Amino acid sequence: MSDKKDLLNKKMAEALLGGGQPRIDKQHAKGKLTARERVHLLLDDGSFEEIGILVTHRTTDFGMEKQIFYGDGVVTGHGTIAGRMVYVFAQDFTVFGGSLSETHAEKICKLMDLAMKTGHPLIGLNDSGGARIQEGVRSLGGYADIFYKNVMASGVIPQISAIMGPCAGGAVYSPAMTDFTIMVENSSYMFVTGPNVVKTVTNEEVSSEELGGASTHSTKSGVTHLTAANDLACIKKIKDLLSYLPQNCEEKTLKRPYELGEEYRDELESIIPDTATKPYDIKEVITGIVDETSFFEIHPAYAENIVVGFARIAGRSIGIVANQPMSLAGCLDVDSSKKAARFTRTCDCFNIPLLVIVDVPGFLPGTDQEWNGIITNGAKLLYALSEATVPRVSLITRKAYGGAYDVMNSKHIGADMNFAWPTAEIAVMGAKGASEIIFRKEISAASDPSAKLAEKEKEYGDLFANPYSAAQRGFIDEVIEPRETRRKLIRAYTLLENKAVSIPKKKHGNIPL
Ligand code: HXC
Repeated sequence: MSDKKDLLNKKMAEALLGGGQPRIDKQHAKGKLTARERVHLLLDDGSFEEIGILVTHRTTDFGMEKQIFYGDGVVTGHGTIAGRMVYVFAQDFTVFGGSLSETHAEKICKLMDLAMKTGHPLIGLNDSGGARIQEGVRSLGGYADIFYKNVMASGVIPQISAIMGPCAGGAVYSPAMTDFTIMVENSSYMFVTGPNVVKTVTNEEVSSEELGGASTHSTKSGVTHLTAANDLACIKKIKDLLSYLPQNCEEKTLKRPYELGEEYRDELESIIPDTATKPYDIKEVITGIVDETSFFEIHPAYAENIVVGFARIAGRSIGIVANQPMSLAGCLDVDSSKKAARFTRTCDCFNIPLLVIVDVPGFLPGTDQEWNGIITNGAKLLYALSEATVPRVSLITRKAYGGAYDVMNSKHIGADMNFAWPTAEIAVMGAKGASEIIFRKEISAASDPSAKLAEKEKEYGDLFANPYSAAQRGFIDEVIEPRETRRKLIRAYTLLENKAVSIPKKKHGNIPL
């Protein structure tokens, strides 16, 4: 027995050392933690149970039979985060650069199957040179197996991908199909074709960082939802993010214990500027409404004209979509429509109620927008909100103009509770633009056209630049004072807790992708 135990101990010691101390030192020298260090920091102390620690690859080509590392470049297992069960895999760059072999893929697939069967989130810590070059098509098959399971798991369990090193070639498509991607700044990159191929094909000179670093993907492409300064910060963000998500799609909205107080927030009274064209920061409205320090923004640096993120209100997780008047006057454009549509669908598949805060002058005009498909992309947001069956509450703070009024969770597309502040203006367009069109003849015939325009602008504004026409028709349920918004929303979400809707029988809808 003791011989057998010795053998086990020897194998385990080898497995724990991954690719060996020099390679671990090299990983640390790059400012990166090892796969095991990451897993232990991510999970509650002592909660990690490893699966498949003794798995090895089966390749014999290129003398690979002499290079055997237990675990085969990926640490897989389960543990808890804040007491809640999760599955985690962490690619081990010290073993063949974390590259994905057939057996490496099998380990991840086994974990994904378990996560699906048992209904717990899956977290992938990616740090890999891509397909194991020595294995050829077998590793490509392994990737495809993972992609397929990513799709099957989509909407069933939360899937979170951290990119903590290279992630290149087709390998990028697994994170891309998970719910959230977080990239570590300066040590991770994602691209389909690297700088060398780019140079050969297009003659462009670009660094890995510029082509696919965290900064690029958080601002230009929107591929990553979040970035983190280093591995530790990345791990903290994963934990924070998870705190808003349920274990699976069958679970109800997460709720932390909360003792109700008087819940008035006077500071909300002074946020909207006196002039309709003056911007203000919608994040002040958000933080004024939600539980203190609970706002967790997603995609903060991408399409900043719309703000999306999670928060808690009286302890309950909600998802927020809000126009941002500080950027492009809060107009909807291609990128902001895609960003908000994706977030809406994420909330809807995981039973997270939505709050849509509206201050939108309309869709952004221009050839750039039209040629880049604002029609199809704007339709994504309209579609995503229309089909969402979670509790949906709207708050119009100021402008709700034109088609954007309809799109931004109007009553007409299925919102459950629609509130407006007295400063709301719900109209086809702003008073000036509207008057210039419908009173054009009258204005040009006037002896003082600008005085006439001002008069007509006031006339139109008095009629429509307010929430009352909409409230008269029931499109707005209540016009509320800003200070009572939080109280009203707490009640609304409590009321909507057991919302049940049935949708027409279909295979699946056909969102305009
Ligand atoms: C096997 C690999 C490997 C790979 C790295 N290694 N990538 N082994 N297959 N794909 C090994 C290296 O040989 C080296 O082994 C060790 O990992 C560390 O690599 P280094 O090059 O020393 O590290 P670094 O300088 O940090 O460079 C990292 C790197 C580079 C940029 C990722 O290794 C690299 O370019 N690798 C190849 C990337 C690639 O082309 N992958 C295939 C992409 S196509 P030793 O023994 O020397 O320490 C793809 C298709 C997926 O992935 C398709 C899915 C549909």
